[in-house]
Amino acid sequence: MRVRDGGPIVTVDGPAGAGKSTVARKMAQKLGFLYLDSGAMYRALAFKALQHGIDLRDESQLAGLLESSQIDLVGNGRHEPQVWLDGEDVTDLLRTPEVNASVSLVAGFRMVREEMVRRQRSLASVGRVVMDGRDIGTYVLPDATVKFFLTASLAARARRRLNDLLALGFHPDLEVLGEEIRHRDALDASREVGPLRQAEDAIVIDTTDMEVDRVVDMMVEYFRQRVS
Ligand code: DC
Repeated sequence: MRVRDGGPIVTVDGPAGAGKSTVARKMAQKLGFLYLDSGAMYRALAFKALQHGIDLRDESQLAGLLESSQIDLVGNGRHEPQVWLDGEDVTDLLRTPEVNASVSLVAGFRMVREEMVRRQRSLASVGRVVMDGRDIGTYVLPDATVKFFLTASLAARARRRLNDLLALGFHPDLEVLGEEIRHRDALDASREVGPLRQAEDAIVIDTTDMEVDRVVDMMVEYFRQRVS
């Protein structure tokens, strides 16, 4: 077992819709750990760039915008995690179709990723955290205590995204959503910096036909075995 200065670190990576954020959040709650949603940081930057009318293909403008932005991931496990941008709660504004469509582009730039990774490492350094994302176990926190990689079929992932969006009041087409996820997966997996990749030492869980709580229980049990 490897434990960092502040305590154990759990990483949860995988493609969009594999269930990472739901299970990572629940796992953090069960362990009494902090939940850190790295995707929300990229989403917050994409949201701010859209708000400011910044060209999403302009790497240095985006990096400059990030430099002057404060992104806080707030949550102590007792209530739903929140994302604050420059002192404002933007939690409910980060999962819109506009942000979904822009975030992969923003997350693809080296200058943006370097700064995000620096911030993510600093956030995780306190230990007793669960962080989810795409490159957390491979690049951001390669010496994490326990690493998970979640997968699910494209159909299952599209259905989950549909339910998320319906809950937010949007009515997207399931087929279009599937295509968007496929496209985003391809972008996330093929980019040069911080691509979506499974760490060699990650435990892989296919969540296609699994209830959320079953996945969480498995992960918690595995974690406890590893740290005991
Ligand atoms: O997990 P999510 O859907 O909220 O992630 C939003 C986007 O950010 C997604 O396109 C992938 C990207 N991302 C990333 O590149 N690296 C991470 N560690 C987390 C998310």
